[in-house]
Amino acid sequence: MPHDVSLLSTIAVGFVLAFVLGFIAIRCRLPPLVGYLVAGIALGPHTPGFVADSGVTSQLAEIGVILLMFGVGLHFSLADLVAVRRLAIPGAVGQIVLATALGAGMAMMWGWSLGAGLVLGLSLSVASTVVLLKALEGRRGVETTNGRIAVGWLIVEDLAMVMVLVLLPALSGVLGGKVTDGHEGAAAGGDGILLTLAVTLGKVMVFGVVALVLGPKVMPWLLRQAARTGSREMFTLAVLAISVGIAFGSAKLFGVSFALGAFIAGVVLHESDLSHKAATNSLPLQDAFAVLFFVSVGMLFDPSVLVRQPLMVGSVLLLVLIAKSVIAGVVVLALGYPASTALTVSAALAQVGEFSFILAGLGITQGMMPAEGMNLILAAALLSISVNPLMFLLGDRLTGFVIRNPALRDFLEFSRQGPLTRLEGELKAARELADTRSKQHKAFSPEELVRHFPLFAGLSAEQQEVVILHFDVATAQPGERIIRAGDLADRVYFLSSGEVEVSVGRRQIKLSPGSYFGEMALISGQPRSADVTALDYCRLLTLSRRDFREILRRHPEIKEAMALTASQREEMNRQEALETGTSTDSPV
Ligand code: CMP
Repeated sequence: MPHDVSLLSTIAVGFVLAFVLGFIAIRCRLPPLVGYLVAGIALGPHTPGFVADSGVTSQLAEIGVILLMFGVGLHFSLADLVAVRRLAIPGAVGQIVLATALGAGMAMMWGWSLGAGLVLGLSLSVASTVVLLKALEGRRGVETTNGRIAVGWLIVEDLAMVMVLVLLPALSGVLGGKVTDGHEGAAAGGDGILLTLAVTLGKVMVFGVVALVLGPKVMPWLLRQAARTGSREMFTLAVLAISVGIAFGSAKLFGVSFALGAFIAGVVLHESDLSHKAATNSLPLQDAFAVLFFVSVGMLFDPSVLVRQPLMVGSVLLLVLIAKSVIAGVVVLALGYPASTALTVSAALAQVGEFSFILAGLGITQGMMPAEGMNLILAAALLSISVNPLMFLLGDRLTGFVIRNPALRDFLEFSRQGPLTRLEGELKAARELADTRSKQHKAFSPEELVRHFPLFAGLSAEQQEVVILHFDVATAQPGERIIRAGDLADRVYFLSSGEVEVSVGRRQIKLSPGSYFGEMALISGQPRSADVTALDYCRLLTLSRRDFREILRRHPEIKEAMALTASQREEMNRQEALETGTSTDSPV
């Protein structure tokens, strides 16, 4: 080859094969993820034919993880998590502890060390948020109470795993693994480990504080500025710069994982009214790189493990499909929630995914777990993700069975509605609070803008969105003087509800919702031509002089319409002045 094209060939072959096999998987009613994983196996070193560059693939996969976690963060509502905390936090923690103990015990029976057992157990104890979201989307379950509980549960697991990822290198020395650079303390005994742990946790906390205090101020502002340029390209670039930049920067500065950095960046942006647009714009890239993530995971898989270690694969699979679900279901029932919730969480947990691979990968590089562990986890992932839709179906069937059986129904479902109803109430309250907050921040949707102000009907939806971003929201009380004749002009007002009165000489003109005022002085550069007073409680959208000029410059048709109104008003005022013999401040 004339020059190194390994990146290009890896991407090209990866995408083509993932597409073909993903397509076939969907046709076979399997999740497309299965197709991507199989594509990875075909491209990997353990199968004949083309072998993709694993170094390149793993870096592309890292971008996939960053974008995925950013997407998870963007959809993650802190308020939702707070609402489901009473079930999700003790539930997820309890289930991780029990499933890890079971996994570790099983591995130690195979003769593995405690460290190796713990890494395997932890990897198997968590489930993939991405797989769950995809499953819930397919069932329209993302917005249901049980769906939100399951997502909250997995987010708690993700957060717990992020902590494990941060702590694992620090603990590697005591657990029989390598002592890595920067974690020399681990070798120095108990005090050293405590110090390393304290430093690691300290870094994570500093990162958390910086991200959660500065982030909500800086990032939405940055995104808004990018959106106000009116260039979609700039906006998408801003989203990418924020997600990948923060992930990389936080890893370098604070030593936290790429995944955590990206997740926090998403969480911070979630509260912004542009989060929806950010999610939409980053989605295609997120999808593309996520595919490469699953391909790279498949590449690591050595299918011969199915023949060499069928018993080990079988027991790992049983742990993921049966033991983990049963543990989760029992934990939910023990916390007093009904069987329908328990069965949704059970089905949600009957799989392993991205965090398991990341954790297992780290365990192997730290020398804590034999490479065979990854093969077992990959086999479990491949099989459990494939049968996950069946697990949800089974959950539905079992719920139906409980409901139809009077004794079971009373004991497992009806008598347990109390905690669920309370949780539903909290979820509803959290959603309402978030809605009112976002309404306060957000001026309008494009449809509302056009409904209120037909002036903007000629713009495309995208242009309307950009116009909305320039608006500030203001209110006025009845009797409040909004504009005083003779003052210097700094903004223009669009009346969305309420009524105002314009006083020119002895004449009073009422303006109703949909009208605008304050444009004359901005267009002519003269002082304000009239008093404008609120007649009742008014909601106004305002544009600063600079933004007003910018919008007129971008949209000549709006400029023309407004200039026409201004000149008609001016003419009317001139007539009024002539008739009454008074002079108005209106520009001549
Ligand atoms: P401006 O001169 O900036 O400030 C006062 C505003 O009152 C003015 O812009 C117009 O928007 C509005 N205004 C002035 N005269 C009239 C009129 N005759 N009819 C309706 N609105 C008017």
